[in-house]
Amino acid sequence: MKPKLVRSLAALRRETARWRKDGLSYAVVPTMGAIHSGHTQLVTEGLKRADRVITTIFVNPRQFAANEDLAKYPRDEDGDVLKLGKAGSHLVYIPEPEEIYPAGFCTTVSLAGPAKAGLEDKFRPQFFDGVTTVVAKLFIQTGADYAMFGEKDYQQLKVVTQMARDLDIPIEVVGIPTVREEDGLAKSSRNVYLSKQERQQALAIHSSISHAAERIRGGLDTQSAAQLATRTLMALGFQVDYVTVRNAETLAPPQHRDEPLRVIAAAWLGKTRLIDNVAV
Ligand code: PAJ
Repeated sequence: MKPKLVRSLAALRRETARWRKDGLSYAVVPTMGAIHSGHTQLVTEGLKRADRVITTIFVNPRQFAANEDLAKYPRDEDGDVLKLGKAGSHLVYIPEPEEIYPAGFCTTVSLAGPAKAGLEDKFRPQFFDGVTTVVAKLFIQTGADYAMFGEKDYQQLKVVTQMARDLDIPIEVVGIPTVREEDGLAKSSRNVYLSKQERQQALAIHSSISHAAERIRGGLDTQSAAQLATRTLMALGFQVDYVTVRNAETLAPPQHRDEPLRVIAAAWLGKTRLIDNVAV
């Protein structure tokens, strides 16, 4: 199926008004493009919950720092629309930058709580203000019933869930398990930056945090398990930003043994930053 492509908010609202009039529910899948099977899985899951799915493609400049990969972020609009159509997305919204940040735009949506957990926020201080500002706009612009987010960006999932709750945006944020390559590497638009050798090494991020989760289930304390994983990754040539075990809901450091836990990691392989997380 060829999805309908819209680039203006007015056109988007014409489509969604028609769906509402027909009594149809719809989900939104916010992306930055470079569509892979992680993204299309979000479309598939959206289709299970709602009658229609909108995918948005917007490489959001506000969530990139000056030294990050905004300029070289992979872009392939035609390929993306094709893949999204195959996955069953009914509409693809590719807003012109001025639909998101018109001249004079001066609002920032900024959260504490999960957005200040000392994980991504510590290493990318501008990141979540950029994400929550654009995601708030996409939630409001689309007026969707459901928003599909990947667990791969675990802190982001918790942050946008909290934001929708705090701002009474009537949307249900749904978290979807990480889609992986056969060797366990989480699918990511940034995996294309990896050299052949780095791609081989990269599987260690998933295996090391999976071992940490196993060790915690086996009785090892969370700090020792995280340290072991950090050392493993460093020995393999990663530059580790963090490997840590957090409460799976609040992202706070764990207080007792029977709370839900998540092992969360970010590390560099050469010039590529990889993130991953697993449940304990
Ligand atoms: P992007 O990196 O394009 O990811 C879009 C969505 O796809 C996010 O919810 C992300 O968690 C999910 N995703 C990516 N890889 C995945 C995988 N391997 N398995 C499951 N889901 C996966 O995240 C962003 O864009 C942006 O920050 C955005 C939310 C669009 C705001 O600009």
